Amino acid sequence: MFRLPTTLCVLLLTSMADGEALELDRDLTDLCFICSCSADQTTIDCSRRGLTEIPDGFSSQVQKLNISNNDISVFPANLNKFHNIVSLDLSGNQLTAIPENALHNLSALEELFLSRNYFDSWISLNPNDVFLPATSLKVLDLSYNKFRTMGNLANLELIISHSLETLILEHCEIDSLHGRSPLSGLTNIKVLKLSFNPLVRIHSLISSTLKTLDVSNCALSRINHNELMYLPSLVYLKMSHNYRLELSASAYNLFSDSLRYLDISYCNVLQPNLQGFPNLRRAILNHNMIRFLRSNEFENNTMLEYLDLSYNNIGSLKSDTFRGLTLLKYLDLSWNEIATVPQDTLLEMPTLTQVKLSRNYITNVGHLKSNSVTILDLSLCEISSIGVDALEGLKSLVDLDLSRNLLSHVPDGVSSNTLKFLNLNYNRITFINNYTFFMLPRLTGLSAIGNRFTAIWKRSYFDSNPYLERLDLSDNMWRCDCLDVNMYDFFEYVTLEPSKKEESYNLICNSPMSMYGQTWLSACYFIWNPTAKTPNPDSLIWFITIMIVGLLTCLLLVNCIRRSTQRRLAAIQAERERQVEEARDRLRQLRMRAEQEALCNTPDPRDLIAPPSYDEALTMPKLNASCHSLNETGSGKTRRKRGRRKTKSSGDLLEETERNGDVPVGGVELTEISDDGRRANRPRRQISRYGSHEVAELEQSPGARRRRMSEYNAEFNEPNGDVVTVEVQAEMERPLRPRLRRYSNDDGQPRESDF
Ligand SMILES: *[C@@H]1O[C@H](CO)[C@@H](O)[C@H](O)[C@H]1NC(C)=O
Ligand SMILES: *[C@@H]1O[C@H](CO)[C@@H](O)[C@H](O)[C@H]1NC(C)=O
Ligand SMILES: *[C@@H]1O[C@H](CO)[C@@H](O)[C@H](O)[C@H]1NC(C)=O
Ligand SMILES: *[C@@H]1O[C@H](CO)[C@@H](O)[C@H](O)[C@H]1NC(C)=O
Repeated sequence: MFRLPTTLCVLLLTSMADGEALELDRDLTDLCFICSCSADQTTIDCSRRGLTEIPDGFSSQVQKLNISNNDISVFPANLNKFHNIVSLDLSGNQLTAIPENALHNLSALEELFLSRNYFDSWISLNPNDVFLPATSLKVLDLSYNKFRTMGNLANLELIISHSLETLILEHCEIDSLHGRSPLSGLTNIKVLKLSFNPLVRIHSLISSTLKTLDVSNCALSRINHNELMYLPSLVYLKMSHNYRLELSASAYNLFSDSLRYLDISYCNVLQPNLQGFPNLRRAILNHNMIRFLRSNEFENNTMLEYLDLSYNNIGSLKSDTFRGLTLLKYLDLSWNEIATVPQDTLLEMPTLTQVKLSRNYITNVGHLKSNSVTILDLSLCEISSIGVDALEGLKSLVDLDLSRNLLSHVPDGVSSNTLKFLNLNYNRITFINNYTFFMLPRLTGLSAIGNRFTAIWKRSYFDSNPYLERLDLSDNMWRCDCLDVNMYDFFEYVTLEPSKKEESYNLICNSPMSMYGQTWLSACYFIWNPTAKTPNPDSLIWFITIMIVGLLTCLLLVNCIRRSTQRRLAAIQAERERQVEEARDRLRQLRMRAEQEALCNTPDPRDLIAPPSYDEALTMPKLNASCHSLNETGSGKTRRKRGRRKTKSSGDLLEETERNGDVPVGGVELTEISDDGRRANRPRRQISRYGSHEVAELEQSPGARRRRMSEYNAEFNEPNGDVVTVEVQAEMERPLRPRLRRYSNDDGQPRESDF
């Protein structure tokens, strides 16, 4: 709806521009908006769009138009301009009628689908005229409408079309065909499908052209012998699933010279009665009620190639039953009740190649004779024995299926020069020997699944079968004796490439109990491979296990190594750090000691200034003040100050010395020590006072120097004051010369003060 304005616009625009091309475009735009168009816009699918009428404006180039499954109830009147339309699908709508001129101009129309509409009378179709303009119409599908009858009342209901070939009327509830032939207006009709109608009779069908008639799944019960007479071209007649239908068993048989294909399966046929079909090629008569076949039953069906009589109740065959079937190739007699097949029965059919006799009551493979049969199916019978010469009469036999029978023994020397495939599955055979197959030189495949073999076969059983390629031996009861050389030999023969005949896993031991259910190989691996340490099927698992274990071990090892390396590295690192720490400690101690030592050995700054020599002293100016005045000024403060002033020039020092006068050296020391209260009680060294000259002299004596040093030490080692003196004394014992010299080497030569 929201597109409406746009559409209107487009419409307006296009109506203003009155070009043919634009008109075309408008049609397609409109159409392809609602429906889906193919790339070349010749195929348009408008199905399932809830349309009630065909959208306006179609292009004439459209070839396939599908408007199925909509809600159209009136046949579209605007189809006329599509003279190129080939296929029109209007099925699944609600049409009840077709106007007379509905298909006017649709001369290209070939297929018209009108199934699943609401047509219920032929007249509403205007059948006389409506299809005439569609001169190419070939297929008309009207199935799933409710016509109920198909008649020809005064020709009003007659569909007239000279081109129509296929008329489909399935599921139309038609129960009768009446009047003069309803097909008389269809002068070119070839196929008529009337299946799934409750038709009881198909009389009054007249058509010289009809080839195929499908009346399967109807309610036919009877066909008069001449009912196909007016269908001279009929080739294919399908009448299956008419459960009551039987071919007339009257003196006159249904006949058709043209019929080639007849399907009358799932009916109620008691007798084939195919005599009237001399040109029949294929007859399908399965799932019927045929109980016996007469002599020469198919005498006149000389063209028959394919005959299916399975799922009947045929109890016996006569040797001349199939006489005359000179072209028959396929005969299916399975699921019947045949007990014996006379020797010569098959000989009557010189071209027969495939015979199915499965699920019958045959008890032995007799002495069937045929020069042509190549495939014989005798499965699911009750065969318990084969004659040694049973196959000799089958000169061309290639494939014999004896599966699911009751065979317990295959006689020695069953011979056939042609047999290639022998199926003995699911019998009760217990043994074979080297004579069993030695007369089957062409044997290529042998199936013996599900039998009761216990003794392992021998390679020599197949000495005469050079072409053997395939052996199926599974599901047997092999008794395994691994020590038996033959077992290994046969195993090798069967499973060894390149001429492998069976998968080794199909060879399974049934006994002894210890080996029950094991394959031959796994049961005997150790014995067959004494050197091998592990059984072969398990060797892979073993290998994998070992690989995994090895891998894990490897991983573990690597991990361990890595971890131990890391640990060692860490230890080394720690050790190194410890050493470094130690070294650092030692260094620190050393440094501390060195510092201490350095401190201990640091010369008194006063030492830096060489004391005046005697001559110098003599030149020095004379002290003005007395020695007493010196004593007066010797307070601790001044002393300390003086001590700190280590870098004073000798001039300064002299100046100070001059200012302070004579310094009572011992007094200074005492003062210093007494600063530390603990020393207060210590006996004081009594120092006499000297004059300035004497001082100078004293200063130079070793004792004075020692005192000065101790004074210096005391000054810097106040905390450990107690030991100061002792330490100092001890230190003094050490050779201090070098250091002293170092500080006092301003004149480069040893001095008096060095001792
Ligand atoms: C038309 O479309 C339907 C699907 O809606 C499809 O089943 C049918 O086969 C189409 N008809 C033709 C003639 O292709
Ligand atoms: C029939 O087709 C012709 C072109 O082939 C066209 O000119 C004519 O209009 C059509 N008739 C109708 C009734 O649409
Ligand atoms: C086979 O056809 C011949 C003539 O064509 C006829 O005489 C004979 O009776 C037919 N056989 C059967 C069994 O109908
Ligand atoms: C079968 O085997 C036996 C020995 O067990 C041997 O004498 C005989 O010749 C063999 N027959 C064939 C046909 O190989």
